[in-house]
Amino acid sequence: MANDKWLDWIVNRRFGGDKKIAEGAMVQLNQIRNKVLESASIHEGDTVLDIGTGDGFLGFAALEKVSAQGKVIFLDVSSDCVAACKEIYSSIPNPNPAEFIVALAENLSSIEDSSIDVIIFRSVLIYINEKLACFKEFHRVLRSGGRISFFEPINIFVNRHKPKNTVYGYDITPIKALWEKISTAYLQKNDSSDPMMNFDEDDLFRLMGEAGFMDIDMMIKAYSKRDPGIKSWEMFYQSAPNPNAISLEEVVNKSLSETEKEAFISFMKPKIEGKNTVRLFSEAFLTAIKE
Ligand SMILES: C[S@@+](CC[C@H](N)C(=O)[O-])C[C@H]1O[C@@H](n2cnc3c(N)ncnc32)[C@H](O)[C@@H]1O
Repeated sequence: MANDKWLDWIVNRRFGGDKKIAEGAMVQLNQIRNKVLESASIHEGDTVLDIGTGDGFLGFAALEKVSAQGKVIFLDVSSDCVAACKEIYSSIPNPNPAEFIVALAENLSSIEDSSIDVIIFRSVLIYINEKLACFKEFHRVLRSGGRISFFEPINIFVNRHKPKNTVYGYDITPIKALWEKISTAYLQKNDSSDPMMNFDEDDLFRLMGEAGFMDIDMMIKAYSKRDPGIKSWEMFYQSAPNPNAISLEEVVNKSLSETEKEAFISFMKPKIEGKNTVRLFSEAFLTAIKE
């Protein structure tokens, strides 16, 4: 049976099947994971909750730190992701203890009050509208003195600051009309209803305070970066930017005529394959404590 959209995206669609791109992206993701874990100060004996665990990217690294007295809970809304984590876990010789839970981050009712030492996650709130409900649940399940450490990209920053008429850093003015057709077919919601776009770092900081967290520490890294670009047309055309999105190829097939498609590809492909670009990033790392 096919995987659900979350696992399918993590395993197959996020890098468009391009190994080199995947390796490059993993370097950056590993840095983010290390920073989240370092700030979480996981000790032996801790019970760690990895929210929106995916394929256990953070959880398995935490598992090495908790010792036989601690445990990691791999939690995700996707039962396929949780099943994938279980399978990986079963292949580890003498693993430290673990638990596997299918649940929504905004409703952790299967987890007792004050039962968790550390919560970690990466790129999960961008998929959830009820961010305050999540933080309240995180606060409820943490023990007094428990810690939370996470990373979220601030996508709205990129939208605010990217030069007009650019896509992935490339000027698309000559094919603006075609790109508008493509964007409409992407069914982009307006920013206020899109959980990926409807928050910035100020909101994260404020919502954590509202949920009762103390000693909130936020680090924002926002930067523009000259980038060799994607270089692989297949990667650009066939990958999906997130689990809820379809690939550009699927959108183009849906929204452009054959002639328009040809015009789009003959303009865009040489740019993607040849030119360097400039990309924008904004990353938020937060930690806090439950009093
Ligand atoms: C971008 S992936 C991140 C996976 C993993 N944390 C990592 O760092 O690779 C987002 C994950 O959040 C999960 N997710 C999305 N909405 C969720 C929700 N409401 N509650 C719990 N997990 C959710 C998805 O199933 C997916 O595994």
